Amino acid sequence: MSLQARLSTTRVPNFAPPAPTPAKRPWVDHWLETCRDLTELKQAHPMMDAVIEEIDGRMIRVGDHWLADFASCNYLGFDLDREIIDAVPAYLEAWGTHPSWSRLLGSPVLYEEIEERLTALLGSEDSLLLPTITHIHMSVIPLLAASGTIFMDSRAHKTIYDGCQVARSRGAAVRRFRFEDPGHLDELLRAERDPTRLVCMDGVNSMTGNAPDIRAFAAVCREHGALLYVDDAHGFGVVGERSPHETSVYGTRGNSVVRHFDETYDNVVLVGGFSKAYSSLLAFIACPTDVKDLLKVAATPYLYSGPSPVASLATVLAGMDVNETRGDELRRVLADRTRRVLDCLDRLGVATPNRSGFPIVEIPVRDHRRIAAVGQMLWDRGVYVTLAAFPLVPKAEVGFRVQLTAANTDAEVDTLIAAIEELAEAGELTSSDPDALERAA
Ligand SMILES: Cc1ncc(COP(=O)(O)O)c(C=O)c1O
Repeated sequence: MSLQARLSTTRVPNFAPPAPTPAKRPWVDHWLETCRDLTELKQAHPMMDAVIEEIDGRMIRVGDHWLADFASCNYLGFDLDREIIDAVPAYLEAWGTHPSWSRLLGSPVLYEEIEERLTALLGSEDSLLLPTITHIHMSVIPLLAASGTIFMDSRAHKTIYDGCQVARSRGAAVRRFRFEDPGHLDELLRAERDPTRLVCMDGVNSMTGNAPDIRAFAAVCREHGALLYVDDAHGFGVVGERSPHETSVYGTRGNSVVRHFDETYDNVVLVGGFSKAYSSLLAFIACPTDVKDLLKVAATPYLYSGPSPVASLATVLAGMDVNETRGDELRRVLADRTRRVLDCLDRLGVATPNRSGFPIVEIPVRDHRRIAAVGQMLWDRGVYVTLAAFPLVPKAEVGFRVQLTAANTDAEVDTLIAAIEELAEAGELTSSDPDALERAA
């Protein structure tokens, strides 16, 4: 008889067990305490776990409250683009809603079309599509790391971190290098004896809005025979190759950080997704063809996971058309709207980690305990943002994240700026002048 069966037939004396005391649950108490700020916010704050009942452009309705949305990642506004929306029905007629072969068992030709066009856009040797970046990190990082050593950016996205944990459970060692510090990575690689080395990091960072110095990181990796694995979820579609004809500091074509820094794919693997700038559920890894062929048989999701819906494949293809014809103009609009917000922060002397002009603007609050009150004020003024509470970010960086999209209107940006001015006036935000607080104290 199995252990579970024996347990289920065991007669239990008829008395209530004593309530577990906190001291007897150290495994959960630790997490309850660590996540207290976040849990309280989630339970009490209208901006957390909100149910959105209606949208009108980038305005959203929660209950009977309309807000300007600055929390989505639809940077190019493709989710609302008429040309893209109108392209979808023909694909549904041709393919139905969701032929659910896993890719190894049957790939609609749409995948081949996307891979071909994507490879040309990125300028990589080849590319492979899988449903999400999370699928890619969980399956590809352990394969590339094997039983070697992973050097992980200390502020890598949680999904990279989790992919590294899977690799660790299969025998890889994981070391961390300091955020934005290629010199530290160089030190660690120099001291490492393991010849199998994988370096995992973010491209455009989802909190700071800045890109790492890819050229410096790629040079360090090449010098020490390490493979560089970059997740550019937030850069793909937004930043791209530089050109004398570029319409903004984002560069042109939105073909990601590797091209933005005029780097090659020599010893560099790029991962990106369509679920942000392209508003579609699909992701990719740009890699050499022999690695792609290996992933087709060895990466779990290619055989074991369901595919992306047809509507998503359709919006990627239509989005690629729009990217070619109007992408740079949309990036100009996005850069201009973002610049307005950054100029406002500059004028008010309010801190933000954003040095790039890219459309992710984190604004730390002066006192991390005030995050709920600050969020409430933004809510009351009709501004919807992402609240970044501890432990999502370190206590010194608790604040709110604003993400702009090409579909936000100037009037919505006006509403946001007015709210930021009010918060600055009330002393809720952090000064960009490190000495100002001391002088005020
Ligand atoms: C840097 C980064 N990587 C990965 C992901 C997850 O992407 P996906 O939804 O395609 O799994 C996100 C999503 O927010 C992200 O910001």
